[in-house]
Amino acid sequence: MNGFREIGDRDVDAVVALWTACGLTRPWNDPYKDISFARAGADSTVLVLERQGAIVATVMAGHDGHRGMLYYVAVDPSVQGQGLGSRAVRAAEAWLGQRGVWKVNLLVRAENAAVKGFYEALGYEVNPVLCMARKIEV
Ligand SMILES: CC(C)(COP(=O)(O)OP(=O)(O)OC[C@H]1O[C@@H](n2cnc3c(N)ncnc32)[C@H](O)[C@@H]1OP(=O)(O)O)[C@@H](O)C(=O)NCCC(=O)NCCS
Repeated sequence: MNGFREIGDRDVDAVVALWTACGLTRPWNDPYKDISFARAGADSTVLVLERQGAIVATVMAGHDGHRGMLYYVAVDPSVQGQGLGSRAVRAAEAWLGQRGVWKVNLLVRAENAAVKGFYEALGYEVNPVLCMARKIEV
């Protein structure tokens, strides 16, 4: 998987620190809960790339029995622009492909639209859909 591996217990704090450094965390999303939930089932995971003992890139991947999804694509700011983000996406695609997924969706926050070019360089297109969401009581 491009040097990426599945997250382990000892990686969790470093992964949350990376997401924070990359501006991907939000007060209303607990990243520890997100990681725990993604690790709990067979259909989702967090992949990490480690260099010299540090987590430098991540991607969360999963599928719902229909489409694959990517979240938390992140590269340490000190090593961005070296192809690691592309490798993260390809690693997630490989993980999903091994599970029979043939189409991958992802969401880009409106305020992060500048990153659109990154995904376009990887073959992703903007689809004419509205993303709607609601929190439910569990
Ligand atoms: C987006 C991000 C993952 C890209 O990682 P990266 O390692 O810097 O990207 P790469 O080096 O693999 O770049 C791949 C290609 O995308 C292009 N690219 C990278 N970031 C880009 C951006 N913000 N806008 C347009 N193109 C971009 C690169 O120029 C490169 O093109 P090339 O192959 O023609 O040179 C990284 O900048 C990041 O972690 N950003 C903060 C978190 C974030 O916004 N994640 C996405 C959430 S939806």
